Amino acid sequence: VSVPFGDLARQTASVRRGLDAAIERVLAGGRYVFGEELERFEAEFAAWCGTTHAVGVASGTDAVTIALQAAGVEPGHEVITTANTCVPTIVGIENAGALPVLVDPSPHTRTIDPERVEQAVTRRTKALLPVHLYGYVADLKALRAIADSRGVALVEDCAQAHGAELDGSRAGSIGDTAAFSFYPTKNLGALGDGGAVVTSSDDAAERARLLRNYGERERFEHVLRGRNSRLDPLQAAFLLVKLSHVDAWNERRRAIAARYTKALANTAVRAPAEPAGRRHAYHLYVVEVADRERFRAALAEAGVETAVHYPRAVHQQPAYRELGEGRDLRVSERLVATVVSLPIYPELTEAEVGHVSAAAQAAGLEQPSL
Ligand SMILES: Cc1ncc(COP(=O)(O)O)c(C=O)c1O
Repeated sequence: VSVPFGDLARQTASVRRGLDAAIERVLAGGRYVFGEELERFEAEFAAWCGTTHAVGVASGTDAVTIALQAAGVEPGHEVITTANTCVPTIVGIENAGALPVLVDPSPHTRTIDPERVEQAVTRRTKALLPVHLYGYVADLKALRAIADSRGVALVEDCAQAHGAELDGSRAGSIGDTAAFSFYPTKNLGALGDGGAVVTSSDDAAERARLLRNYGERERFEHVLRGRNSRLDPLQAAFLLVKLSHVDAWNERRRAIAARYTKALANTAVRAPAEPAGRRHAYHLYVVEVADRERFRAALAEAGVETAVHYPRAVHQQPAYRELGEGRDLRVSERLVATVVSLPIYPELTEAEVGHVSAAAQAAGLEQPSL
């Protein structure tokens, strides 16, 4: 048996008829920017997230930028985020002209540590930007309290957390604004790039709509300095087809995760934290091991492809070294040395899940303790 880390063609095949019909509709409709497909997707996606507005944009990175700007972030402001995120979070902050301030996550949940956030707030802080890393919703209750007491915005990076929940509220519905990515591998993925800003603030939604379309309110009347960042109607039509499956796909991801966690129980491998009060979206299933090379080699030997999310913390990247200066980011630095991602996607067969579980268990029994 060989189990690839990801296989998007399987998902495409499973919804192929709907996608073909979507192409037909868009081609025949003659509307290739904005239009009905986009409006329908935005309405359905907002309702699915539990917000009143969704604004389609060109990528998750742009969604981060526009979600921050819609929440009031301007050039020179500081935005507090986590050092163990994927670089696009940082690109999104800097594209708003703001300065990313990196803090460590909690080693248990691997999401931003509210205590460290509190210590990092300054006069220039304008927003907190937690990342629901791997699909685990960050500690939004504590972060909401900090944001409210310090008078700053709470913006969620939901790129990995479509459909994840905290105490019954969906990711994206708790912050002032939130950013989603529809990069093809995401829990809800387009067939190309895409993203969305969601919010229940009429004012923030209006700003996001302007910002994605050159700040244009009426034809040739520009009231904000925006950009061109729109979600194509073709991608919106594809996303509409897939949206109706995401709840079931997420259930399948959770069932696979439960199998893996059970298999790893008596090994030296640290499984993801129990999602207390949460519905984990399991965009990724990430374990920690003491000897990563050996663990990955044993799985590769068994035909199981693994990956590392992420091999470096942001400030360990050549382009972002200065963001680490004078900051204690040891939790992130330890995590990036020990994390391994196992294959998790709804189209994995039962046989494949069984094979990965057995191979990970065997490799885990050979691991030194962390
Ligand atoms: C946490 C996080 N934020 C932002 C992004 C940016 O999304 P995109 O690749 O659609 O620009 C991604 C995905 O790449 C991500 O994982």
